[in-house]
Amino acid sequence: MNPKIITIDGPSGVGKGTIALMVADYLGYNYLDSGSLYRSLALALSEKKIDLTKDIDDIEKNINELEIDFKYDKNGKTSIFVNKIEFTKKIRTEKVAKMASQIAKNAKARKMLEVVQRRYIKAPGLVADGRDMGTKVFNEANIKFFLTASVEKRAERRLNQLKDQGISANLPNLIHELLLRDKADTERTISPLVPANDAILVDTSEFSAAEVFNKIKELVDKNI
Ligand code: C5P
Repeated sequence: MNPKIITIDGPSGVGKGTIALMVADYLGYNYLDSGSLYRSLALALSEKKIDLTKDIDDIEKNINELEIDFKYDKNGKTSIFVNKIEFTKKIRTEKVAKMASQIAKNAKARKMLEVVQRRYIKAPGLVADGRDMGTKVFNEANIKFFLTASVEKRAERRLNQLKDQGISANLPNLIHELLLRDKADTERTISPLVPANDAILVDTSEFSAAEVFNKIKELVDKNI
């Protein structure tokens, strides 16, 4: 039987990662945090002093030399390595998020990352979160979700996440940065952030992670 695929897309800070990990854990499926790939790629390139907005040839050349690996432990903690060097914490800043959003406009980078992302399809199944999981990378997914939430709620959640990781940030700045990133992600021409036609929309603004998970679990149990 083909591995099942569940996609969870949506804007930054909507809770995709938390919910996707809960679903993957519940079903015993593999998990892909596609945003981490964009962040790792962007940071690795910028550490090589490559201008993400200009040096298209250098981007292409260097992409082929990068190997990005994830390790997940039983508690849902993810570690990310680029060419065997740990990137886990340093990709979580808003600065890197912004760089990720720049590289995300590059068609070659997206194509290369698509190949990497599809390698995560493994039996019995995969839960993938990102921006274009349901519309593009895993268009054939068995069930697709698109999460939304107000920008204030998303910024609050992001602030708490960053605090937990020991990274300082402030709410007004985060709101500003999330709005800029939403704009870049929804307005880009290649794989913009939009719900797939067959995606189930879930507004998470007023619900806890456990409540959102229960709603999604019910739909997954019925459809998978
Ligand atoms: O999900 P996360 O906030 O880590 O993603 C960082 C950036 O990477 C996004 O703002 C977006 O520009 C890009 N991205 C993307 N497609 C994905 C995942 C992330 O374009 N599937």
